[in-house]
Amino acid sequence: MKKVTDLELSPGAMLRMGYAAVDAAVDHIKNLPEAPRSNLDDSIEIAKSLREPPPEKGTDFETLLDFIMKKVIPVSINTPHPAYMGFIPGGGLYPSAVADFLGAATNRFTGAWFAAPAAARLEANVLEWFSQWMGYPNSARGILTSGGSLANFSAVVTARKHLLEDDISKGIIYASDQTHHCVLKVALLAGIPEPNIRLLPVDRNFRAIPEMFERAVKTDLRKGMKPFLLVGNAGTTNSGAVDPLPDLADIAKRHNLWYHIDAAYGGFFYLCKKGKKILKGLNLSDSLVLDPHKGLFLPYGSGCLLVKDGEILRSAHMLTAEYLMDTTTPEREVSATEYSPELTRSYRGLRVWLPLKLFGVDAFRENLSEKLQLTQWMYKRFLDEPGFECMAVPDLTVIAFRYRPKKGEVEDFNRKLLAYIVKSKKLFLSSTLLNGEFVIRVCILSFRTHQAEVEEAFEIISKAAKRLDKT
Ligand SMILES: Cc1ncc(COP(=O)(O)O)c(C=O)c1O
Repeated sequence: MKKVTDLELSPGAMLRMGYAAVDAAVDHIKNLPEAPRSNLDDSIEIAKSLREPPPEKGTDFETLLDFIMKKVIPVSINTPHPAYMGFIPGGGLYPSAVADFLGAATNRFTGAWFAAPAAARLEANVLEWFSQWMGYPNSARGILTSGGSLANFSAVVTARKHLLEDDISKGIIYASDQTHHCVLKVALLAGIPEPNIRLLPVDRNFRAIPEMFERAVKTDLRKGMKPFLLVGNAGTTNSGAVDPLPDLADIAKRHNLWYHIDAAYGGFFYLCKKGKKILKGLNLSDSLVLDPHKGLFLPYGSGCLLVKDGEILRSAHMLTAEYLMDTTTPEREVSATEYSPELTRSYRGLRVWLPLKLFGVDAFRENLSEKLQLTQWMYKRFLDEPGFECMAVPDLTVIAFRYRPKKGEVEDFNRKLLAYIVKSKKLFLSSTLLNGEFVIRVCILSFRTHQAEVEEAFEIISKAAKRLDKT
């Protein structure tokens, strides 16, 4: 028989490949501060030029690594850059990348406890730590997901299964109109009819108005509908607003609704003293979503759902088959697949566990507190600087602002201002609509963003606004 190509590399080749990849990654991170904050010039042409047929023959690793680092990675918004304050930054902690490498290189099966019990325990530890931090009881269970969207998906499915069983046509969901669009998307994926999703207006700080929820639930009850899920926000994406969480909890309790909080962006601020005050009532939820790739600064690919009564999460996701009959799990241990839609998946727990163990929780507390302080610093600068207005008092670390030019149209001016800032490649910000009006957002959440970066960012914004205002 013809000898096949050996896909196992020699130890020497593996070492060379690993060292070269680490060299390239460290070099990249070391040079981040000097790199452009975004580089999307000619992106359509570049993407087109990269189309290629499947490679029948192999290429040496050095050539491929060079190609990835020089031709692929730089064509992007530089999301790990200290001056990346667009959308919701995370940063991407290096130890998590190392954990991903170890997890993939050792390739253990972590979907079911019995195949890698020690690895499953580390992941369960992480979820138990999250539960403790969020004030959830020992009965809580959770899952690590690829991100907040899929974590919200499992939350909606859990609530639907628990309170509606198979009769979903009359089930109603309530959330503010500032809720992340993924909640609407996953509700639709979970089979909830679109007309059954109530997105209610907010107050002038973009927070939910409890009376609106109360009224909407009562109206639906009168019509014979089945209200079942109330969603609160612990940090909206648009403006960072935190809903009145305890008041929403009261309404959910009064009407036997499942109370879910989307804390994908804001939840980890609960770790620090000031954040705990702002997020009062987070622990009153039945379930909550956290995104470690936001609030714990991990690389993308880390979401989490916690459910206070873990048995309810399990019964919404538990299904087995004869080929899995050896996969038993002892009491107090956890098989991820019993609580999640997934079976085979990467070893997600390690990328969270490693940085937490390496740095200790206090390091994260300090970094999160710092981000809250930096936001207040910048907010005050906006208030003091003539021409600028902020759309709301920031609850967490998003500032939505705009500049009022001496003459001309406000929206047009601010669109130009954002384009000018991004084009300068010195700072990356993004925009949104609040009350239908165009605003620019600053979101301060990268572990690499400190006072110097925030001061520089403010300088860039104010100088750009003044310059455009003169033309
Ligand atoms: C508040 C909120 N919820 C949910 C999501 C969706 O999370 P992911 O992008 O991790 O799927 C985001 C993403 O920015 C978010 O800010």
